[in-house]
Amino acid sequence: MDLRILITGNLPENATLPLKEKYRVEINQEDYPMDRRALILSVRDKHGLLPMITDRIDEEVLACAPHLKMIANFGVGYNNIDVKAATSRGIMVSNTPGVLTDTTAELAFALILAVSRRLVEGDRMVREGRFQFWAPMLFLGREVTGKTLGIVGLGEIGKAVAKIAGSFSMRILYYKRNRLDSAEERALAVEYADLETLLMESDIVSLHVPLTEETQHLIGENELSHMKTKACLINTSRGPVIDEAALVSALRDGKIGGAGLDVYEHEPALSPGLDELDNVVLLPHVGSGTHEARFRMASLAVENLIAGLSGQTPPNLVNPEFLPKRRL
Ligand code: DGY
Repeated sequence: MDLRILITGNLPENATLPLKEKYRVEINQEDYPMDRRALILSVRDKHGLLPMITDRIDEEVLACAPHLKMIANFGVGYNNIDVKAATSRGIMVSNTPGVLTDTTAELAFALILAVSRRLVEGDRMVREGRFQFWAPMLFLGREVTGKTLGIVGLGEIGKAVAKIAGSFSMRILYYKRNRLDSAEERALAVEYADLETLLMESDIVSLHVPLTEETQHLIGENELSHMKTKACLINTSRGPVIDEAALVSALRDGKIGGAGLDVYEHEPALSPGLDELDNVVLLPHVGSGTHEARFRMASLAVENLIAGLSGQTPPNLVNPEFLPKRRL
């Protein structure tokens, strides 16, 4: 059958070749998100969709896609897709886990170091000609080695962060819905804590939960009030996990020491005041932003799509319950 595919972002070309060999592929070649109207028009005759995490694939889009069999998201997080609506229409959904684990953990740790040792502030100071002399008590940061790291959400990325933290001799607390068994806790050298205890005892808190109804605003005014006044908060997961207005107030009022953010509640917009604070490091959602990881993500999304459209079970299917209703 002559199947048609839409890829909504400009992916590494080599990774998409297997799709182009098999199907008729339309690609948004621009380096900005596809216009929503254009996406809705384009999905009308498509059998496969490979969307970016910036595309909201909801009921409105799905209702316009009568032939769609499979959505292969370019990202491990898939909160941009209404999976329930896709499932009820018999549409498979997949994501790209595993291939960006270390990449994102690296970035979380880069933010931990950048905030603790004031790397971005220091760079600004030097560039602006404000570095005029060395002095023993000037421009001091906080050590990371030996401190307590609280990891909220100990999935694959959280575990990779824990491994890096091990080489900084950190005490590692974690909070997760389902506690690990004791053998795995020992192997990772992590201690379970409830969220409140983790927030109270950690010098650095790093978030690694998916965005769901339960994790939206998981960290708000109340949670921030439990943190140590010198502690910093790192977020490489999804912006809405933090109540950003509450974070700005906590940072401004000195209730916590700093923050390192790669994601934002109203991405790409920032909450008022956030960019006026010196004790935050802000990045443009680049947790998986390396040449290597983006190639692996594209290849995996393509592999999922080909498997799904060839009648196999995609390796990273997130809605296995769809199978009885699968569109053939
Ligand atoms: C993901 O894979 O969910 C990332 O946020 C994309 O960088």
